[in-house]
Amino acid sequence: MKVISVVGARPQFVKLAPVAQAMDEAGVEHIIVHTGQHYDADMSDVFFDGLSIPTPDVHLGVGSGSHATQTGAMLAQLEPVFQEHQPDWVLVYGDTNSTLAAALAAVKIHIPVAHLEAGLRSFNRRMPEEHNRVMTDHCSDLLLAPTDVAREHLTTEGLAERTEVVGDVMVDVCFTVRDAVLAKGAVDEGEPYLLSTIHRAENTDDPERLRTIIDALADAPVPVRLLAHPRLRAKAEEFGIALDRGSIDVRTPVPYAEMVTSVLGSVGVVTDSGGLQKEAYLLDRPCTTLRTETEWVETLHDGWNVLVADPADLASALARPRPTAPRQAPYGDGHAAVAAVQALAAHRAGA
Ligand code: UD1
Repeated sequence: MKVISVVGARPQFVKLAPVAQAMDEAGVEHIIVHTGQHYDADMSDVFFDGLSIPTPDVHLGVGSGSHATQTGAMLAQLEPVFQEHQPDWVLVYGDTNSTLAAALAAVKIHIPVAHLEAGLRSFNRRMPEEHNRVMTDHCSDLLLAPTDVAREHLTTEGLAERTEVVGDVMVDVCFTVRDAVLAKGAVDEGEPYLLSTIHRAENTDDPERLRTIIDALADAPVPVRLLAHPRLRAKAEEFGIALDRGSIDVRTPVPYAEMVTSVLGSVGVVTDSGGLQKEAYLLDRPCTTLRTETEWVETLHDGWNVLVADPADLASALARPRPTAPRQAPYGDGHAAVAAVQALAAHRAGA
């Protein structure tokens, strides 16, 4: 079996790590294409190095741009790559512009598409990620869903026959890295701090909203370690909002193992990232999410994750006590990547 994985943005590199390993173990011919959506070393290279992901076979170097410019450039450049390799599957990950571009480029030339992390929904059609998810699911041939909730969404949309629940590959990588971090004794148990990331367009691109969020973090009762995504830095500078003040300790984005270490060392997480909400849950830390909704609804049980729609409410959310109810295991047992590769083999044309 020959599979092309297309990735481009930070969370996709994390998901690729266990999948690349499972492909290797199963003897799959695996070609990795990097669109270049994320290009800074600390947004890209450190993930390949730190998670031992093979160097991409093809790097398109698409870079930043408006949605149409970025997605269109990827579409045009992916088509000849798929044509040249004629894989059994193009495998796409998550919900970024790279995901949609690859799915569309493949389906147009009749190459089967599989979507890993299919079926997630925020039901917020203003998010670019929501368009990307819905359109990718509807043009894919195989929908690899992480959870039963995701399967239910796909069933509602008439896509049940193409769906298989394989679990969440982010559990695979999170637990592997957690165990390595704990074995090394790398967790810092000094002063309490909150770990924070903010990068979504709906938070960063409105100056008033961004200012209210940063003000609330600056007033937090404990230090806030803010790992600033390039979009956050660019927008804060554009709007004249200083990040480094009050409780905020601004830092650069960190490699994956350092992120897991930082979550384990923290008393809680404040974020708008999908992946980090779930990592907090998996690593036993309460999370406050600066969004009106989440795709990872299972994290909301018993207050482990709390949604804050209005940043003016952030202070009271941060003051809440740590939940005492035990967490469930809705995201699988950490063997999702192997299950995904098995599903690709089972559903391959002619299999
Ligand atoms: C993208 C994804 C989002 C994902 C996030 C993870 C889409 C629509 N969004 O958002 O779903 O959660 O990645 O990080 O695909 N930039 C740099 N260097 C980089 C990358 C980005 O400076 O290496 C800056 C550029 O100014 C760019 C901006 O960040 O214009 C936004 O980057 P982009 O990839 O368009 O979206 P993200 O906000 O990263």
